[in-house]
Amino acid sequence: MRTPLVAGNWKMHKDHREAVELVRELDGLLAGLEGVEVAVCPPFTALSDVARALEDSGSPILLGAQDVYPAPEGAFTGEISPRMLRALGVRYVIVGHSERREIIGEKDELVAAKARAVLEEGMVPILCVGETLEEREEGKAVSKVRHQLEAALSAWTGDEVSTGLVIAYEPIWAIGTGRTATPEDAQEMNSFIRGWLAERYGQEVASEVRILYGGSVKPDNAGELMAMPDIDGALVGGASLKAGDFAAIARFRG
Ligand code: PGA
Repeated sequence: MRTPLVAGNWKMHKDHREAVELVRELDGLLAGLEGVEVAVCPPFTALSDVARALEDSGSPILLGAQDVYPAPEGAFTGEISPRMLRALGVRYVIVGHSERREIIGEKDELVAAKARAVLEEGMVPILCVGETLEEREEGKAVSKVRHQLEAALSAWTGDEVSTGLVIAYEPIWAIGTGRTATPEDAQEMNSFIRGWLAERYGQEVASEVRILYGGSVKPDNAGELMAMPDIDGALVGGASLKAGDFAAIARFRG
């Protein structure tokens, strides 16, 4: 059985003080929650303080980062290495988010290197894939996602995939737009992704990988999305900035 993962992507929101306030409030609201992994991905500047706050309260909330640079150390001005994240207790690292691909211009090759670097440091990449509205309307959604998977995972073994990877399907047209994919559309793509994994690594490996959905997930749609057989959790942007909303999403089972 795959344990669902609900991860909050705070994007470029919250300074380090606000971040600690938010995570404390969230921790209180999640008391007693079982059977769901919850992670928060604050900006780099808040990771250290959020890590300490989680440790002080013995919180089960896991720490995630929003990005990483794929080198152990060196002359990479402005970048953060996998080891620096690991040293703070980071477990998950978002890789290939569409905002980085579309706004910052990250290419598939860099995304692939980041995913490997995270794995090799003993953390788990949350690899984001998804199509634009234009690609969906032209019937190219599946081929786009297939291409992104092939580019990012060509060097991965079955063992690595089964224990060290989370995939998030995030249709770009649904991110921050209030326009959510229907549970059926999201299920269809997640099922395609699992089928792709099964073709390459076998059914057993494919059945172990958590495949999330992301894009305008809210308390009132989280339950029906995550009830789908191949949707194993959510990557939540906007709604993760409100402790009450995010906690309600994490309690999607009621
Ligand atoms: P959203 O963002 O929930 O605000 O649509 C999701 C994401 O970008 O991961």
